[in-house]
Amino acid sequence: MNILLLGSGGREHAIAWKLAQSTEIQKLYIAPGNAGTSLTGINVPIEVNDFEGIKLFVLENDVDMVVVGPEEPLVNGIADFFLNDGLLSDIPVIGPSKSGARLEGSKDFAKAFMQRYGIPTAAYRTFSSTESAAAKEFLRSLKPPYVLKADGLAAGKGVIICPDILEADQELTEMLDHARFGKASEKVVIEEFLSGIELSVFVLTDGKSWILLPEAKDYKRIGEGDTGLNTGGMGSISPVPFADSEFMEKVRLRIIEPTIQGLQSENIDYKGFIFFGLINVNGNPYVIEYNVRMGDPETESVIPRIKTDLVYLFRKVADQSLGSARIEFEERCAATVMLVSGGYPGSYLKGFQVDGLDREYPSLLFHSGTITDENDNLVKTSGGRVIAVTSLAGTTQEALLQSYTTAAEIDFQGKTLRKDLGFDLF
Ligand code: AMP
Ligand code: GLY
Repeated sequence: MNILLLGSGGREHAIAWKLAQSTEIQKLYIAPGNAGTSLTGINVPIEVNDFEGIKLFVLENDVDMVVVGPEEPLVNGIADFFLNDGLLSDIPVIGPSKSGARLEGSKDFAKAFMQRYGIPTAAYRTFSSTESAAAKEFLRSLKPPYVLKADGLAAGKGVIICPDILEADQELTEMLDHARFGKASEKVVIEEFLSGIELSVFVLTDGKSWILLPEAKDYKRIGEGDTGLNTGGMGSISPVPFADSEFMEKVRLRIIEPTIQGLQSENIDYKGFIFFGLINVNGNPYVIEYNVRMGDPETESVIPRIKTDLVYLFRKVADQSLGSARIEFEERCAATVMLVSGGYPGSYLKGFQVDGLDREYPSLLFHSGTITDENDNLVKTSGGRVIAVTSLAGTTQEALLQSYTTAAEIDFQGKTLRKDLGFDLF
């Protein structure tokens, strides 16, 4: 089977690494990929939202399946583009339809969906730009801190948490009246602040059945002790100690089952991953957000914990026979440490050589923001998040220690990492 994987981050390198191990794979293409994915497959210089370019490539290279890494092409309707094209309609896309992708593409849709199916989430209301007075009045009915969310995709920056009412008013004006996030903030969701510890739960679904993947926890803030600016993720661990069987049973009954049933009852075509961003409030799970893809850097911890052939699982998704799939997990714990560029998530320089990649380590190295320089064939930094170092061990602490030992051997100018992953758990 020939597979085209869309995306270019650490998540895609981890998925590519796993797909490449399949006995069923012939050719694995990654568009556009990074320096790491070129070690596991063939990089193709096509952008993830260039549907016509993807179509041409798929037809010319006998691609049998397309796997979508990031949310943007899903929200833009790549699954529908394939389904509605006479030449592409037989080629399965792993990723939901445009309608399903609204779970991530519109916070207002996601909140209303949860409300329709009684799925626990923070109380909320949605306001458009003609309703800023009502929005400010609603803010005054809540307690601080105030949570404001741009309705649409905003590259992970659309959630603002304001400590006091004056700042919340200002942010609201910026978002609704001054289009702070462009079209994405034409509508704003204002919601109750929930206090607890977060985790990420993933399922793979064919629209009828679903399988639970290992859960993970990511570390979003740049600074130790969860301080400073939000990043794309500074590391992850899996499993999550507090996600015991009692907690996960609540997640299944209150969140996963009603979500799948809701999708079914609204005839929403959904074949792909659902990422439940959850918060544990006194032992009870609440949904902070849905994503319609895997998490990054959670994938770098989750994928190595799946023993089963991923192509086999994706085939079961495509032909809607996931209900009969067998899946096996790795008992060991995974820990991922992200090496990022100095200055990230603010401005940072790129193009620095990454040293230490050519040695053998008792860890996995997943590339995130790297490119191979065509002039000298060296791997250089090309993004904020550069390399994810993942280790597996009997305990999370051992896995973390192993990842830190490996991380010390990899170097580039400005290399930055968080040394306290797991601080809130152990
Ligand atoms: P998101 O972009 O939806 O992942 O939100 C970014 C982060 O904002 C989440 O990971 C949470 O840490 C925080 N957040 C979002 N909504 C809430 C809420 N209702 N209460 C507390 N924290 C929240
Ligand atoms: N790690 C969070 C995300 O992928 O959205």
